[in-house]
Amino acid sequence: MKFNKLNVNESAKQVNNDIEKYLNFVVRNLDKAMALTGLGGRKADYDDEHYEFIGGANDELRKKHYDKSLRLLWKAEKHASWSTFDDCTKEEEMLLKMADQSLNAAEKKELDRVKSAEYKALLNREYTQAQKQAIVNILSLIGHGEAYAWLVSNEVLRDVKSTGAKAALTMQVLEEAKHFVVLRELIQAFECEIPRLPIYEYIMLEGTLKSKGLEKFFGMNVLVEGIALSIFGALSKYPGLEVLEMFHLDESRHCALPTNYLKTAPLTWWERNNPAAMVKRFALVLPAIPLAFKMEPDFAELGIDVFDFGGSLVRKVINLAYRVGFHLPLPQENMKAFINFLFNAYCNATREGHVYQQFLEREATLGEKELAVEREVFQLTAEQNAGRELLASAS
Ligand SMILES: [Fe+2]
Ligand SMILES: [Fe+2]
Repeated sequence: MKFNKLNVNESAKQVNNDIEKYLNFVVRNLDKAMALTGLGGRKADYDDEHYEFIGGANDELRKKHYDKSLRLLWKAEKHASWSTFDDCTKEEEMLLKMADQSLNAAEKKELDRVKSAEYKALLNREYTQAQKQAIVNILSLIGHGEAYAWLVSNEVLRDVKSTGAKAALTMQVLEEAKHFVVLRELIQAFECEIPRLPIYEYIMLEGTLKSKGLEKFFGMNVLVEGIALSIFGALSKYPGLEVLEMFHLDESRHCALPTNYLKTAPLTWWERNNPAAMVKRFALVLPAIPLAFKMEPDFAELGIDVFDFGGSLVRKVINLAYRVGFHLPLPQENMKAFINFLFNAYCNATREGHVYQQFLEREATLGEKELAVEREVFQLTAEQNAGRELLASAS
């Protein structure tokens, strides 16, 4: 390629360069001084001189979360064909169309319309009104939670260091946006009254959004996403709710994110064991107990004992929290025993002839695939950490 190079004024070029260098020196040093004195300074944790976010590249985390999320990114148009989503590429649409035995545009449009009506008919065929309302009450807990997950992951995106971690969080923001909008359509298709946030969950979600820095990982990725993972795992085998399997996959990656991130940027001893932080975490967990009491009738409608569900959930969440380093005011086993005691005390007071039970040994997740996914999040990481702790104690 040939260009006709134009002449420039050499001295003007020199002056412009000098002014820019001078301003660069003044502004950046002023920002550094402001940051040192705590008065402000540069807000973005971005190192443009190295073309990298502060914290470095962290390609391992990028591969595990960003690349994997992209690979597994599912399209609502394909998995929730009854929805209004239009997110497939031309090629994917072509494949779907071929699967639908080469329908023409008019036929496809008609099929889409019927699919939505068909989907509602399927729900009406499979569930009574009371069952539909129970499913809506349970799923809307997560529906509202997805809105907060979207906001919180967007804030954590600013707090994590390294390019890989920011890429991982970007995928979470994207997936939470999709969860919020797709789940909303799913819930609306039930044509039941959609309840507001129960106040216990409101406190939990507000507390998470207001928590500082990486503590958000505890409130969101461990606690709230642990609840979401359990609900999706319990319901994804129900007729018409198959799409929840896709949500379950995404949430399992979100639950694994603190473990993978904190491997590269571990919490300090003080961050793990600071009494004020431990009490704040406990204050986020506590509302889940009255929330379980409140949700008992809805789970019961679907034949699920809320304390079996809650026990399975609490075991997973507490194990994950301690593994990652988010300690609570009591040792791990005592904390589990305390919550099991509270569940039993409530049952004693409300259920005739209640016999003391080990609710925390229950398993609420249905489906082999879902159980395998959860094993990876809740157990493989345990083995890895146990191995690391063993190495650390041996050295
Ligand atoms: Fe989500
Ligand atoms: Fe999530």
